[in-house]
Amino acid sequence: MTRKPIIAGNWKMNNTVADTRDAVRKLVPLVNDSVDVDIVVCPPFTSLAAAVDAAESSNISVGAQNVHWEEKGAYTGEISVKMLIELNVAYAVVGHSERRQYFGETDVNVNRRLHASLQAGLIPIVCVGETLEQRRSGEMEAVITGQIRVCLDKVSADRMCGTVIAYEPVWAIGTGVTATPEQAQEVHSLIRRLLRESYDDTTAETVRIQYGGSVKSSNINDLMSQPDIDGALVGGASLVPDEFGDLIKKAVDN
Ligand code: 13P
Repeated sequence: MTRKPIIAGNWKMNNTVADTRDAVRKLVPLVNDSVDVDIVVCPPFTSLAAAVDAAESSNISVGAQNVHWEEKGAYTGEISVKMLIELNVAYAVVGHSERRQYFGETDVNVNRRLHASLQAGLIPIVCVGETLEQRRSGEMEAVITGQIRVCLDKVSADRMCGTVIAYEPVWAIGTGVTATPEQAQEVHSLIRRLLRESYDDTTAETVRIQYGGSVKSSNINDLMSQPDIDGALVGGASLVPDEFGDLIKKAVDN
């Protein structure tokens, strides 16, 4: 089965409204010929409307970096799916390791965020990944298996097919150390095997699994050449339009 590649830029806490407008406007002409790939930018909440506006009539979609599971209420600092849908945001990243590490997010509440996104028609990008200590102590497989099981709990096969998974080894995020294509492939194939066990062959073959962690235009092609790597969730390199445009082109340039 051929899965359409998906490249998403996670801008994290970077880019004001003005910076966002500028970056998206620069990116649009760089990627308008790249039709065989889904392209997403995930700016901070304050820049979502500007990004949607600047990406209008282009092949770039906009995603949020997080979303809450409740529709509304006393959840200071949180944003609901309805608020994102109103802005024509199409994707939501859930469970990023920085959210887990600095803001106490757990697999259980990542699962809630995932259900709320799917219910509203937002495409979730669910992040999983092990730390360096976990990898060194031989726990990688157990950690990934646990995260996948809990994060995807009670998601139907149908909805699973519309969910994107991002494997982001924590030790490769922002460190300049990229997992080798073989290391990434090993975990991607583990995730696909877990999907096959929990669902079925069709679901496992349909779900797109992105790799994230120091992805650049210089390493995307090798990563994409692995059979279970269907795209990338890109941090630093997505902040520079020329570099991100180049990376997107190279992702589908086999
Ligand atoms: P870097 O590409 O900067 O390593 O960040 C990866 C990441 O966390 C994307 O979500």
